[in-house]
Amino acid sequence: MNFLAIETSCDETSVAIFTDELQILANVVASQVDLHARFGGVVPEVAARAHLQRLLPTMDEALRQAQVKLTDIGAIVVMNSPGLVGALLVGVSAAKMLALTLDVPLLSANHIEAHIFAARMAAGRDIFPCVGLVVSGGHTSLFHCKTPLDFDLLGGTIDDAAGEAFDKVAAILGLGFPGGPAVEREAALGDPKAHSLPRSFLKEDRLAFSFSGLKTAVLYALYGVGKTRGAAPGPGKARADLAASFQKAVIDVLVAKARQALRKTKLTRLAVGGGVSANGALRAELEAMAKQERAEIFIPPRKLCTDNAAMAAVAVEKWRRQIFAALDLDAVPTYHGKN
Ligand code: KG4
Ligand code: ZN
Repeated sequence: MNFLAIETSCDETSVAIFTDELQILANVVASQVDLHARFGGVVPEVAARAHLQRLLPTMDEALRQAQVKLTDIGAIVVMNSPGLVGALLVGVSAAKMLALTLDVPLLSANHIEAHIFAARMAAGRDIFPCVGLVVSGGHTSLFHCKTPLDFDLLGGTIDDAAGEAFDKVAAILGLGFPGGPAVEREAALGDPKAHSLPRSFLKEDRLAFSFSGLKTAVLYALYGVGKTRGAAPGPGKARADLAASFQKAVIDVLVAKARQALRKTKLTRLAVGGGVSANGALRAELEAMAKQERAEIFIPPRKLCTDNAAMAAVAVEKWRRQIFAALDLDAVPTYHGKN
């Protein structure tokens, strides 16, 4: 049985086709980076309009790659939460139209649960129950993932998300948009010990994150304490050292909190997802920590870490349990741990 899934929560328009056996037949991602770069971040209205233009061509390309016809699709899946509401609505409306006209069931998928499910898909076997760490542009959260569809929130960020911090620091350092990969490349050239930057809640028992102070500390390191403005630094050792020190500070807290979550829950598996988990240094340090904790770790390959529609295969679990969505399915911008 073939599923067609749609993802339009932020700035990637994606359509995937997969089977009930979780075999990915196509996973096409149309990035909008070119449209948002000049604004230095995602502009919600621009994103929604671009989804509208790109969704049907992306779907055609997915069908072509999968060598599947629309009439071979047995169910439609849409990621309806969380995300930018205008962007989500494009995917939700298209999914309803497809389900109605093809006369097949409609299923909803939660983007955060889907990010963790990407690790399950890559593993090729069950990974639940596990600690789930979602590190993306909008979320930095730890969950006790009891099943693919039942997450308890253990803790999250009280301000910026980790990906948001990468994007903001990239802008400060003049590295452009999207920030994560640019900071990672720059950090590889620098010394992570060059600056001692804050690591919020590191020594506390609480499973919480805060990254906005870190961003300010990067500004102070550049322009002097109390100063938040100035010309972006040019290429060279000073910029690379700051990028490396920033990245190391983010990684240290993510690794420490994931370790605490494993110890607190006594779970022995850690699944990681979201765009920031594409970061090579983070992946290596999480793997080293999991080894020390004698925990199994599941991090999907990079193209399944960043936004894509294949991870919506979490909805296959709903399909098995006959949990279908109605045609009045809504776009829900926020998520705190339960559907
Ligand atoms: O999961 P995702 O594609 O979209 C959201 O759900 O937000 O995550 C996007 C975030 C962006 O903030 C981006 O800068 C960050 O993931 N990111 C990275 C890397 N690749 C993407 N952060 C650090 N290192 C990377 N290599
Ligand atoms: Zn995401």
